[in-house]
Amino acid sequence: MRAGVITGVGGALPEQTLTNADLESMMDTSDQWIVERTGIRERRVGGVTSALAVEAGGKALAAAGVDPADIGLLILATTTPDRTVPATSASVSEELGMRCGAFDVNAACAGWVYALVAAQGFVATGVDKVLVIGADTLSRFTDYTDRGTAILFSDGAGASVVEGREGREGSLGLLGWDLGCDGSAESILYCDYGGLIKMEGREVFRRAVRVMVDSSKRSLEMAGVTAHDVDLVIPHQANIRIIESANQRLGIPMEKSSVIIDRIGNSSSATIPLALEAAIAQGRLHDGDVVLFTGFGAGMTWASAVVRWGQT
Ligand code: UT7
Repeated sequence: MRAGVITGVGGALPEQTLTNADLESMMDTSDQWIVERTGIRERRVGGVTSALAVEAGGKALAAAGVDPADIGLLILATTTPDRTVPATSASVSEELGMRCGAFDVNAACAGWVYALVAAQGFVATGVDKVLVIGADTLSRFTDYTDRGTAILFSDGAGASVVEGREGREGSLGLLGWDLGCDGSAESILYCDYGGLIKMEGREVFRRAVRVMVDSSKRSLEMAGVTAHDVDLVIPHQANIRIIESANQRLGIPMEKSSVIIDRIGNSSSATIPLALEAAIAQGRLHDGDVVLFTGFGAGMTWASAVVRWGQT
């Protein structure tokens, strides 16, 4: 069996910054309320999903030192594709110069972790190198007259190259994972064709903490480690209070979390790889570290993965 290890990571953000002060001028809200209730100070908006995915994917390939032509599969997690048909991964693979299978995954904000787990499956069955991208442009579907959602959502992309390593299954790369979906909760967060995002914020919050904690516990158990063994949590950046509550219930101190929500907001499937990119840039990841990825999203979906960091 082969382990899939992350060998390169890259991120992309649109240029336009939407600050809390900007939102104050657009609706009845305040910087103080937004910071206290969400942890967000500013967010990036105005991107195109495929373009952000191409930029992030290109950076991840460069960081891994991998030629696009050597990638054996592209998995793009997005809930905001450029078009209904074809899949956005088709445009991304063309722009990056790939000649391999490519498909989209829509598991909302949990999408990148779904794609990471899928990548491990492909690596185990013989694909050498998989490019896993999370890219979303939620600002296109945000109602800027609704202060309950407009303060949260943003655009961005994050990507990682996953490569196979012989004989390291169970000791390197993905050690445990958990994917889930409760379709009975679809009415609390959705966007119809041609419409804008509708959300019951308080209910999403309540369920988010529960599913992140339960899913993380299942992944840790499968990995044969405990919350105490976790060196770094890379959570979906939806609300700082959700991250704090989940960490508290798992018994993991906040210092062990990668948090960048203050400057990026919630860009759905992009937030986890972007928080991973930030952690790498800050020198927070070392060979042998136990990393817990965990997220939730519309569906309601959730996904967690426990990874032993390192390449050999
Ligand atoms: O990727 C998944 C995406 N979604 C999420 O993760 C969302 C999860 N939920 C949340 O993040 C939070 O529920 C929100 C940030 C959306 C809302 O925060 P909250 O602490 O749950 O506020 P609330 O909805 O309970 O509202 C409390 C008060 C209300 O006023 P009253 O009725 O107490 O007078 C709201 O009208 O805050 C008011 N309010 C605001 N005030 C200023 C709601 N939004 C705002 C706002 N600015 N932007």
